[in-house]
Amino acid sequence: MDRNTDCLAADPAGIDRASELLAAGQLVAFPTETVYGLGADARQGAAVARIFEAKGRPRFNPLIVHVADLATAERYGHFDHDALALANAFWPGPLTLVVPIRAEAGLSDLVTAGLGTVGLRVPRGDVAQTLLRRFAGPVAAPSANPSGKISPTRAEHVLDGLAGRIAAVLDGGAAEVGVESTIVGCYDHPRLLRPGGLPIEAIEAALGRSLAHAPPGGTPNAPGQLASHYAPDAALRVGAETAEAGEILIGFGPQASDAAFNLSPSGDLVEAAANLFEMLRQADVLGRPIAVSPIPEHGLGRAINDRLSRAAHPR
Ligand code: TXA
Ligand code: MG
Repeated sequence: MDRNTDCLAADPAGIDRASELLAAGQLVAFPTETVYGLGADARQGAAVARIFEAKGRPRFNPLIVHVADLATAERYGHFDHDALALANAFWPGPLTLVVPIRAEAGLSDLVTAGLGTVGLRVPRGDVAQTLLRRFAGPVAAPSANPSGKISPTRAEHVLDGLAGRIAAVLDGGAAEVGVESTIVGCYDHPRLLRPGGLPIEAIEAALGRSLAHAPPGGTPNAPGQLASHYAPDAALRVGAETAEAGEILIGFGPQASDAAFNLSPSGDLVEAAANLFEMLRQADVLGRPIAVSPIPEHGLGRAINDRLSRAAHPR
């Protein structure tokens, strides 16, 4: 695409325009409560193919389909008892459910990468909700970053990575949650495919039992578990109590008062998740190795640690 990317205000006129562009098979980045998504009409194969082209993404990664509500989601996937319980408890919200696809779903094969399952999500953000209702169709959307780069939590981040490659971005300000949705597979017994913005503890409480975990390194069903999925350009060291010479420290909690950045000076994991990608970007542009303080492994800390360990994986 050799034309400019429009930055649309998240007002009725901007949302109308975004909806028209999607209907015309164009790519539109839009805010959700987790991160910005790069949207295309999930029924139009050529539009979905443009997502992979714009991101430079390996083809075997299936995409999440965004819809306005559970009733719409049920047109595309089969929801068993557990999937219904989770959808009712947490939608709209930062949870993606991977369920068996309906034969008559009418989604592009590229969306599912031929897996026989489909990832469905009902985002909670006002702008995303308004856009999905206005468009009145399924929107396939990975995070709106070039493949292998940090997920965008602001419209400016989207433009940094994809300007000139997509038709438009809807500017809804900073994403509220800041890390991607938690992904749960409901095609046999409920299985954690990716930790994310909805804490696992909340999901297990709603199910009344433990989630099965995907084997380390991912399975063919979760190809998104590629090792270095969320990487800054700089080398990254996790679990760092202090910075070594030359390193930039991204701290967490009151004990990291000397750090160049602090994900949450008060030690709040929700705040830390919201700041994670932005601070990784800010540290990355300084061109020095990055060290990150230990993050507790509970609640949103699990999603944060998952993203950090991927970013730290040698490439
Ligand atoms: O919060 C989010 O989930 C954001 C916003 C934009 O909604 N989206 C997002 O998409 O993070 P993406 O493409 O960066 O990650 C989607 C993950 C991938 O790891 C992909 O492999 C997995 O979802 N996925 C999608 N459909 C799947 C399926 N049918 N089976 C297994 N994994 C699936
Ligand atoms: Mg992504």
